[in-house]
Amino acid sequence: MRHFTSVHDVLHFQRLLQEAVEMKNNPFGYATAGQHRTMCLLFFNSSLRTRLSTQKAAQNLGMNTMVLNINEDSWKMETQFGVVMNGDKAEHIKEAAAVIGRYCDIIGIRSFPALKNRAEDYADSIINQFIQYAGVPIVSMESAIRHPLQSFADIITIEQYKKKARPKVLLAWAPHCRALPQSVPNSFAEWAVAAGYEVVVTHPEGYELNPAFTEGAVIEYDREKAYRGADFVYAKNWSSYVHYGKILTDDPAWMVSHQNMTLTNQAKFMHCLPVRRNLVVTDSIIDSSDSIVIEEAANRVVSAQTVLWNILKYL
Ligand code: CP
Repeated sequence: MRHFTSVHDVLHFQRLLQEAVEMKNNPFGYATAGQHRTMCLLFFNSSLRTRLSTQKAAQNLGMNTMVLNINEDSWKMETQFGVVMNGDKAEHIKEAAAVIGRYCDIIGIRSFPALKNRAEDYADSIINQFIQYAGVPIVSMESAIRHPLQSFADIITIEQYKKKARPKVLLAWAPHCRALPQSVPNSFAEWAVAAGYEVVVTHPEGYELNPAFTEGAVIEYDREKAYRGADFVYAKNWSSYVHYGKILTDDPAWMVSHQNMTLTNQAKFMHCLPVRRNLVVTDSIIDSSDSIVIEEAANRVVSAQTVLWNILKYL
């Protein structure tokens, strides 16, 4: 593997899953794979899980890690081309990417969308410019349109808990007080379809995701029908893709509650976290024995370690 930005970078999906199981069972079995290698983690946006789990994964493989909060700890970065740089942005992404690429062997990047201009966000330009100019492998730690390390951890978790070969996996929209990106649901839908699950996506009208990401999934507007018989409920809020970046409803009926979960096949509750309690999910559901959000977060180390190991093999 050279870069890791989506499920499309995975050559052998089932083999990657098997490697993840091995990595989970024996986290220090590859402790020298990254000896004398350095990973630089660049954050344009906040993080708890991604920041810590990716560092831990790299360290489990024997790598050195460096972490930089772009625009806070470094010079403010200009990401547009052809502009007169007479404002507060002192460094252009073209030089910054090339320089950082000389200091490390792998670069991880977190860069959220602005949610103002759909075409600009979906060009995923920051991660793509790093791929173009850094000269080293790039790992997405959540880009404007996908969150593949999260999705891979989600699939590892479903494999761990599933009781049938092809579980019904429901990606369920839930309300939120702020406009959030589509990156997690986009990516989750792609990975869950690639895993061969029965994937259903439910949301109010107007929250349709870009169909390029949900191909192979069933879109079900009838929430009760969607929840019925689900083995896993993956809750997530996202802002509208159609009416780009807008919040169209805050209807609490879409919150993951006992009323919705009682329709399922005693589904496991999943969320990528952080999650707003009693807005996205009730206390009683996230605190129930069917909630697997902590194990899901723990698997972020496994997904990152498996991906980094696959990149290190070809350095
Ligand atoms: N799920 C996730 O990516 O968490 P953080 O935003 O805290 O990294």
